[in-house]
Amino acid sequence: MINFKYPHKINIANIPSPIQKVTFNGKGFWIKRDDLTGLEMTGNKVRKLEFLLADAKRKKADLIFTCGGEQSNHARATAFAGKSLGFDVKLFLWGKDSPKADGNLFLNKVIRTDLEFITRKEYADVDQIMEQQKLQFEKLGRKVYIVKEGGSSELGVWGYVNAFQEILNQKGNNFNSILTASGSGGTNAGLLIGAHLFNKRIKIIGINVLYTAEYMRNRTLELVERTIKKFNLKIKLDEKLLEVIDGYSTEGYKNINHDKINIIRDFAGQTGILLDPAYTGKAFCAYNELFLNNNSKTLFIHTGGIFGAFAKKMNYLD
Ligand SMILES: Cc1ncc(COP(=O)(O)O)c(C=O)c1O
Repeated sequence: MINFKYPHKINIANIPSPIQKVTFNGKGFWIKRDDLTGLEMTGNKVRKLEFLLADAKRKKADLIFTCGGEQSNHARATAFAGKSLGFDVKLFLWGKDSPKADGNLFLNKVIRTDLEFITRKEYADVDQIMEQQKLQFEKLGRKVYIVKEGGSSELGVWGYVNAFQEILNQKGNNFNSILTASGSGGTNAGLLIGAHLFNKRIKIIGINVLYTAEYMRNRTLELVERTIKKFNLKIKLDEKLLEVIDGYSTEGYKNINHDKINIIRDFAGQTGILLDPAYTGKAFCAYNELFLNNNSKTLFIHTGGIFGAFAKKMNYLD
C-alpha cells in the first residue's frame, strides 16, 4: 500500500455497505449494495458528500449549490444531506418543473429545496451559472459552497477510494474488476485511485450513461490526474486499469428501452433488488451481457438511484 491520508470527512453514510451474493438467471455473482448507504441519501453520492460537506463546514459556508438533471440522485442526496447538516441548498436542474413531480424531484420539494430549472443548452454552462449566482448571493452576505456535478471533484472522489478499501476488507474479495454506471466520473475515478493506492490490479469498468464513452474516459482520467496532483499522491496512473464500455444508453440518459426494463423487472423479481432506469439498470444490462457467470470475478456496484424508478413508472409497466 502507498502511504496516504484521507481528507477530513463527516459520517453521514451507512457504510460499510454489504457485498451480497445474488443469483440471476441461475448464475450467482457478487453485488455491493451502495443503494443501502442511506434511504433519503441512498446511493453513491452520499459517500462523496461526506468529504464535500465536511469541507463546506470547514469553510463556514451556509448555502450549498449543486446541479444535475431534474431527477438527479446527486442533487436529491445533496439537498437531504445539506439541509440535515444545517445548510440551505439551491439546485440548478436541467429539465422542467411539474406539479406532478415524482421521484427525486418530489423529494426535493418535500424538504422545500430552492430549485432553479434550466434548459439542456444552459446546462452546458452550469458551472458559470453557479459561479455568477454565487457572486450575487455573496453580495447579500451569504457564503456559498459549490458542489460540482455529481460531486465529482478532487475531494469528492475520496468517497470511492474509501469504498475501494472497504471492498478489499470484505468477503468474496478476489475480484479482478469492478463495474459501475458512469455519469460524472467521480465513482470510477475514486475506485481507480483506490486500485493504485492499494496496489491492486483490479480493473475499473464504467458504463457511460450520459456522456460519450470517449469523453467519460478522458474526464475520469483527468479527474484522477488532478486528484493525484492536488493531494500529492505518490502514484503513477495506469490508464489501462480503466475501461469504459459504450452502447448501453443509446436511447439517451432520460430514456430506457423495453428490453432493459424487462431485465430490471426480472432482476427485481429474482433477487429482491430494484435497479434504477438511468444508471444501475443500464449498467446491469452491460454486466448481464458481458460479465455474468457463476462466481463472476467482476463485482457489480449498485450505486442507488431507486427514486428514479418512480419518475418513470409508466416505462416499468406493460
Ligand atoms: C444512481 C447513480 N449511479 C451512478 C452514478 C454515476 O456516478 P458518477 O457520477 O460518479 O459517475 C450516478 C450519478 O451520476 C447515480 O445517481
